[in-house]
Amino acid sequence: TKKISIAIDGPAASGKSTVAKIVAEKLSYIYIDTGAMYRAVTYKALMKKADIHDQDELIRLLKETDIELKQKNGGQAVFLDGKDVSKEIRDTEVTNSVSIVAAHGLIREELVYRQQKLGEKGGVVMDGRDIGTKVLPDSELKIFMLASVDIRAERRHKENLEKGYPSDFAKLREEIMLRDKNDTEREISPLKKADDAIEIDTSSLSIEDVVARVVALARERI
Ligand code: C5P
Repeated sequence: TKKISIAIDGPAASGKSTVAKIVAEKLSYIYIDTGAMYRAVTYKALMKKADIHDQDELIRLLKETDIELKQKNGGQAVFLDGKDVSKEIRDTEVTNSVSIVAAHGLIREELVYRQQKLGEKGGVVMDGRDIGTKVLPDSELKIFMLASVDIRAERRHKENLEKGYPSDFAKLREEIMLRDKNDTEREISPLKKADDAIEIDTSSLSIEDVVARVVALARERI
């Protein structure tokens, strides 16, 4: 059977990665979380006390940085220069700095190049902000996932509490709104629905509903 590529884009905390992971598992495809790559370089920059507004400094850092996405059962582990940083890249400090790092054109160029190499053989489910528009413009299935900011903040809040992390709903909501604003308004490859993407509003859908819909759409194209 043919191996297609599936692009899933959408705003922060819209459920992209949860859905992408399960879809990849069901189709025996590789899941690629591109946000994790932006997070990994942001984490390294913060660790090295680099200036995240200084593109030249960041690109020098990135060129000598190895980011590996390893498939784990039911998910993905992120290795930065050989070290597992899957947890660290979800820290609040990284989350609130990543959209500044991701706005730099040279950083995007380098990461898009790496993402395209990972996706060139097909058989991938890739999630991010610019997958359908820029990274995999020829992918056979493009999904744009949406949900209201209240619902997204609520889901993230619940997830934090379940994991035993401290969580402040109002603050989460603010942070999600700011990240969306940065991602939508940036000059280079802003968050935008590709013309040929299929929109799914997940506000009133369960994860299983969304997964079923995406898998059905994928099977039509395989
Ligand atoms: O997907 P996630 O929320 O982990 O992404 C973190 C950040 O990385 C986004 O808010 C965005 O600034 C950036 N990003 C991006 N392009 C992608 C994936 C993520 O700019 N393809």
